[in-house]
Amino acid sequence: MRANEVSEIGELKGLRDDVYRRPLATALLRLGLGAGWRCADVGAGGGDVSVALAEMVGRDGRVYAVDSDPLARDEVARAAAAHAQVIALTQAGEDLSLPEAVDLAFCRFLLLHVLEPLAVVRMMAGAVRPGGWVVVQEPVTSAGRIAGAPLSMPDARHPDVGALLPALVRDAGLEVVDAWAEAPAGVGPGPVARYLESLTGVEPGDDPVVLPPLVTVIGRRS
Ligand SMILES: C[S@@+](CC[C@H](N)C(=O)[O-])C[C@H]1O[C@@H](n2cnc3c(N)ncnc32)[C@H](O)[C@@H]1O
Repeated sequence: MRANEVSEIGELKGLRDDVYRRPLATALLRLGLGAGWRCADVGAGGGDVSVALAEMVGRDGRVYAVDSDPLARDEVARAAAAHAQVIALTQAGEDLSLPEAVDLAFCRFLLLHVLEPLAVVRMMAGAVRPGGWVVVQEPVTSAGRIAGAPLSMPDARHPDVGALLPALVRDAGLEVVDAWAEAPAGVGPGPVARYLESLTGVEPGDDPVVLPPLVTVIGRRS
């Protein structure tokens, strides 16, 4: 990989305001994601990760932006208007069914919301070609802190699912190639405070914040 490609991935242009883009960049660099890859972004939401992936795989690649919410499809269509290689699909991760086997199945901030996280990771494992990759990124919400006090997310079904992630990937029949946790932190105005406010409605003022650590697991299908 050339030096300018590394900095492009490190920058992840489509994710400029995303405080969690560093672990995503680390994971994608580790895989060697590049031109022509087929990817699935499961629980794609507004599609900012799908767009960032599309920029990396180029016009010869493909990104299936999958979400169970039909409204997400319109959002992705708007976000990816300039990227014909992004295909938005309305599907639940539990019923994942893609038109082709992919090189990478990815999810972030999805498994904390689903009924059965292992069922979804199994479907992602089944969606990749032999030798293909599954990358999952989920939080340990209660390990986040505002002024030293733990964070909570009462609306999520599994707010601490990140703590189980390596076992989920293994139990889905994948080899765990790498796994780590990373937490953005900050004090005062800035992206960390803005992100916390958008997530919880809490404005931290001058209190120090550690956002929920995001556990990344890279799995590979044998
Ligand atoms: C918190 S958003 C994450 C968006 C994006 N992955 C990100 O990291 O910015 C979670 C998304 O997962 C979707 N979702 C929830 N349950 C799902 C399921 N069972 N299957 C597919 N998508 C689901 C929601 O509609 C929502 O768009």
